[in-house]
Amino acid sequence: MSRLVVVSNRMPLGSNPSGGLVVALQDAMEKGGGLWIGVQPDADVLEGAEPAGENAVSVPGANFDRVAAVVPASAYDDYYLGYANSVLWPLCHGRMELIEQRPHYRAAYEAINSRLAKVVARFLRPDDILWVHDYHHLPLAAALRAEGVQNAIGFFLHIPFPTAANIHAVTGVEDVMSWISQYDLVGLQTQRDVSSAMDVFRQFPDSQFLMDGSLRFRNRTFEIKSFPIGIDAAAFRDIAARSRARLAPRARRWIIGAERLDYSKGLPHRLRAFGKLLETEIDLQGAVSFLQIASPTREDVQAYREIREELEQLSGAVNGRFSDINYTPIQYLNRGVPRDRLAGLFRQADVGLVTPLADGMNLVAKEYVAAQDAEDPGVLVLSGFAGAHEQLGQHALIANPYDIEQMARTIAAALLMPLEERIERHQAMLRIVMEQDVAWWSESFLNALEAKRLGSEFLSIL
Ligand code: F6P
Repeated sequence: MSRLVVVSNRMPLGSNPSGGLVVALQDAMEKGGGLWIGVQPDADVLEGAEPAGENAVSVPGANFDRVAAVVPASAYDDYYLGYANSVLWPLCHGRMELIEQRPHYRAAYEAINSRLAKVVARFLRPDDILWVHDYHHLPLAAALRAEGVQNAIGFFLHIPFPTAANIHAVTGVEDVMSWISQYDLVGLQTQRDVSSAMDVFRQFPDSQFLMDGSLRFRNRTFEIKSFPIGIDAAAFRDIAARSRARLAPRARRWIIGAERLDYSKGLPHRLRAFGKLLETEIDLQGAVSFLQIASPTREDVQAYREIREELEQLSGAVNGRFSDINYTPIQYLNRGVPRDRLAGLFRQADVGLVTPLADGMNLVAKEYVAAQDAEDPGVLVLSGFAGAHEQLGQHALIANPYDIEQMARTIAAALLMPLEERIERHQAMLRIVMEQDVAWWSESFLNALEAKRLGSEFLSIL
C-alpha cells in the first residue's frame, strides 16, 4: 500500500478546527494514516514540534504525522491574506469587486509554494500518493515537478471553480492553467464546477479534449472530475444524539445557521429574510428565534471586517424592532462553538439555514441533516448556490438569497411543514449523506488517482 501524503495550508492543531477542509481530511487521516504537510508562519509555534531540517518542523502523531513548512510571517500574509484570500477567494466566489491584485502578493504566493515544494520533496518517498488541497497551492505540482518529483499528484479544490468570464480578471491566467495541468487528477466539488473548468480550458488554443475524457494542456495530460466532499455522517449523528447542548427556551421554535463569518455565506441576506419573516408573519413574533453562529475568520482582510460590522448592525436592527422583555429574536454569536455542542444545537433546531451566495460544497448542510432525530427531523433550507444543492437540492427547501421575500416565505413553509413530509425529505437526504460520506469521497478520489498512477506506470513500461 502506498503512503498518503496530504498537503494543505491549514492543519489540525486544536480541538476546534475551523472550515470544512480540516474537518473532512482529519477524519480521513485518522482512519487511514499517513503524513500531513501544512504551512506555518514562523511567528506561530506548533505545540510539540521538533526541527525537521531546513524550514520545517515535525509533530509525530498516533495515527498520522504532521510536518509544517515554516515560512516568514510577512511573506505568509502576502500569500494567505493577499493572493489566496484577496485574489483567488473572491475570484472563485464571483465577488470580482473585492479582488485586490498586487505584484508582491503573487510573488509571495509563488515563493511560498516553491519553498513548500522543497520541504514536501524532502519527505516524499517514490511510491507515495500525494494529495494537495485547495486554492492556496495551485502552483505546488509545478514547483514539485521542478524539484524532480515524479509521483502521482492529485489536487482537490474545495471552493467553486471560477467561470470562463471571471477567470480573466486574474493577471497571468495562462500560468494558472499551466499550474493546474501539472496535476494528474484535479477534483472539483460539483458537475457545475467541472463545466466551468471545461469552459475555461476551451478558451485556450493550447487545450485539447481527448477521447478518454482527459484534457491536454500544452505537453501535459490530466483529468478533471467531480468528487463531492462528504462528512463522517455516522459519527456526527452519534455526537448529536449524545450532545447535552440545549436551545433555550425549548418551548420556542428555533432556526439555526452556523458558518465562518465569510461574505460568501450570504449572512446579511439571511438576517434580512428573518426580519421580513417576523414582519409578515405576526404570529411568529415571540414564537421563533434565530441562532446565528458566525466564527471569525481572515479578520485582517478589509472585506471581512466590513461584513462583520454589517451583521452587527443588521442583527441589532431586527432585535431592536422585534425584541420583548422575554424575547430576543436573533441570538448572534461571533465565535466558534465546539463540534459536540454544535451537533446538539443542530439536532434541536426546527430549521437549518444554509443559504450561501456561492459555496464549494457547504458541509454544514450535511451536518444539519446528519444531526436530526429521524423521528422528528428539522427542515433544511438550502440555496441553489451551495455545492450541496447538486446532491440534496431535490429534497431540501430551496431559498434564493437574492430574493429576501422568497427566502422569508421559504422559512415560513419550513416552520409549517407537517411531520410526515419532514420525515420523507429527511430520510432521502440522510441516505445520501450517509452513503456519500467522507470515506466515500476520499476513497473515490484516491482510487481514481491510483488508477492514473498505474496507467502511467504501464505506459512507461511500454
Ligand atoms: O473550504 C475552504 C477553506 O478555505 C479551506 O481551505 C479552509 O480550511 C477553510 O475554508 C477555512 O479557511 P481558513 O483556513 O482561511 O481559515
